[in-house]
Amino acid sequence: MHETDPVAVTILRELIAADGSHRSGESLGETLGCSRVSIRNKIQQLTDADFQIEAIRRKGYRLVALPPSLDALALRALLEMTTPLYFLDTTDSTNSEAERRLASGAEAPFVVVAARQTAGRGRLGRKWESADLGNLYLSAAFRPHLPPSRMSLFTLWMGLSLCRELSNEYRVPLKVKWPNDLLLEGRKVAGMLTEARIDADRTRDLIFGIGLNITGDVTAFPEALRTIATTLQSATSTPLNANRVTAFVVTSLLTAYEQFMAGIPTETFPQHWQAFCALTGSEVSVRGLDRELSGKVMGINGQGQLLLKTSTGQQHALHAGEVSLSRGAGT
Ligand code: BTN
Repeated sequence: MHETDPVAVTILRELIAADGSHRSGESLGETLGCSRVSIRNKIQQLTDADFQIEAIRRKGYRLVALPPSLDALALRALLEMTTPLYFLDTTDSTNSEAERRLASGAEAPFVVVAARQTAGRGRLGRKWESADLGNLYLSAAFRPHLPPSRMSLFTLWMGLSLCRELSNEYRVPLKVKWPNDLLLEGRKVAGMLTEARIDADRTRDLIFGIGLNITGDVTAFPEALRTIATTLQSATSTPLNANRVTAFVVTSLLTAYEQFMAGIPTETFPQHWQAFCALTGSEVSVRGLDRELSGKVMGINGQGQLLLKTSTGQQHALHAGEVSLSRGAGT
């Protein structure tokens, strides 16, 4: 069955909209303009493709569960949007894939989702562990054409928006760690990597990549990550489905981008950040390109810089760097 099979997508959308109730084969047939037998055959194909669909005589069909791993058909059924979504079972890096598509002239925005990556990239040249099928590897590509000076809050805005939306939707105590991590109870649940091509006066194109651990098995992560990483699932007793969470993330990110382009209130941004900030009040050390600083995090300023007060009382505004918590500092 092809991932864009229109009959399969429509049946799934009808069953998703029925929200756990049954839909008769007859009414599905009427909606789709095809026979009950064709519906039954398509339902069988969906069941073979890992969709759990209950069939009860005289009641009809009920969607019990979507496939547990990321699935192109499930995402198409969940997301009714005009923005193109490219789904890949495996790619090197969704950021690289988005970059290639932009270079070959693809219209933006678009979204690339992969079930796994073979060369996932993190910040500062690090590797991003990307083998687990329960986790999300996503890049959204844009051509904002804004002056670079207007982009300073972009990644922070996207991260904060996602943090707020996911916290509300899944009732989890997510926090943002400057500049672009999401933490759950002190452990990393998501990392973001923004890559841009900038001309002298405008940001030509921009790729916002996010790796989000949804239902993956942390015990299967490399040992070094097991104690510092976690999943969204770990903080909620409701069973999560990676496809539903991904659809929610895609919608939230595209909305956040539209809001950013419309103009966000930069003066009040630090207050909004503060509400979800994992670091304020913590003693941290910051490794920059040319120096290392230790001090107390006071928050961020309107340009998205981290405000750090050292033991001498001097306040520093740090634009880019890697923040690591000092030993003994609680967040
Ligand atoms: C970090 O915390 O260092 C940032 C990690 C960003 C990982 C995501 S996964 C999807 C996208 N593709 C990549 O190669 N990297 C980003």
